[in-house]
Amino acid sequence: MAWSPEKTEVKSWNEWDTLRHVIVGRADDCHIPPEEPALDAKVPEDSDMRGQWGRRPPETIDRANELLNNFADQLRGLGIRVDRPVPIDHSQPVTTPDFHTGSQFGCMPPRDVLLTVGHEMLEATMSYRCRWFEYLNYRPLLKQYWEEDQNFRHEAAPKPRLTDADYHPDYLSDKIGEAKRLEWAAEKFFVTTEEEPLFDAADVLRFGKDLVVQHGFTTNLKGIEWLRRHFPEHRVHTVNFPGDPYPIHIDATFTPLRPGLILNNPQRRLPEEQREMFIRNGWEIVDAAQPAHNTPPPLCYSSTWLSMNVLVLDPKTVCVEKSEVYQAEQMDKLGMEVIEVELRDAYAFGGGLHCCTADVFRDGDCEDYFP
Ligand code: NVA
Repeated sequence: MAWSPEKTEVKSWNEWDTLRHVIVGRADDCHIPPEEPALDAKVPEDSDMRGQWGRRPPETIDRANELLNNFADQLRGLGIRVDRPVPIDHSQPVTTPDFHTGSQFGCMPPRDVLLTVGHEMLEATMSYRCRWFEYLNYRPLLKQYWEEDQNFRHEAAPKPRLTDADYHPDYLSDKIGEAKRLEWAAEKFFVTTEEEPLFDAADVLRFGKDLVVQHGFTTNLKGIEWLRRHFPEHRVHTVNFPGDPYPIHIDATFTPLRPGLILNNPQRRLPEEQREMFIRNGWEIVDAAQPAHNTPPPLCYSSTWLSMNVLVLDPKTVCVEKSEVYQAEQMDKLGMEVIEVELRDAYAFGGGLHCCTADVFRDGDCEDYFP
């Protein structure tokens, strides 16, 4: 049955079918959390974020919200239903029997927390202590979907304990240097240990019957095994990108645009042996265009490669950040219609256009693209 805006239905099997219903994050009350192992490992040695923590400056929150609200309106103007989370008080510290942290993170970006696979939305375990309760920002929406859609499966992965045993102490020095980090990434030695299953939803890409999951700082092998057992009808593939010294979240590294076409970050190429499944099935993996910026904006965790963190609206249409002119140009050459969206001043809140959204409904069914 065709999608109707009058009726709530959760369903999304991939990253590219026509988008009908989406969640867009909010910047309200976002914090830079205090130091903690997995978060520190992601912050480059020369980042302006080192040694800082507390509520983000109010003018930056207002500006990010202005951009996120405009993006939501732009999507609504295209006929897409947009929901927004309900922020909790992120200044609250978190204490569990196993850890304590001085503040939370925010309700950005939703893609990190919520994984939609078919009729299910799964709350990820998360791997940062400051993000342990982040799912609460989305609970009002998930409660509503559950009440309105009889087929919706609301699932939550087991909450991890996040004791010190979850993190390799080797990563905790702020003077490791990029060469060492690259060596470790190539050896698949990451900040998180195999103490218990850990994954962030943004390490997973959905290709119908296949789920492609990045092994890195925020997702460990046990997390991937947990996903494999949780989705027994799917094939779950582990990938890693040795060129990335800070491997978290796959969506500024590997970006499927439509069946048969993926952008890959040229500094973080998928190793040959892991390309096999794509090549054998006629998929093309092309280098993404260079970012338009040499540095990320102030107080930003992410790299300049948010340029390729695009939101695909359908196999012919893609939202690209307005200042990312080279990425837009490449999309055009690849036959995609580009919708420009201004978002750079919200990057600091956790990412780009793909990050700041979470799918609720896309057309299409679960296809096998890699028979
Ligand atoms: N690994 C990423 C996170 C972006 C979503 C980066 O390039 O910073």
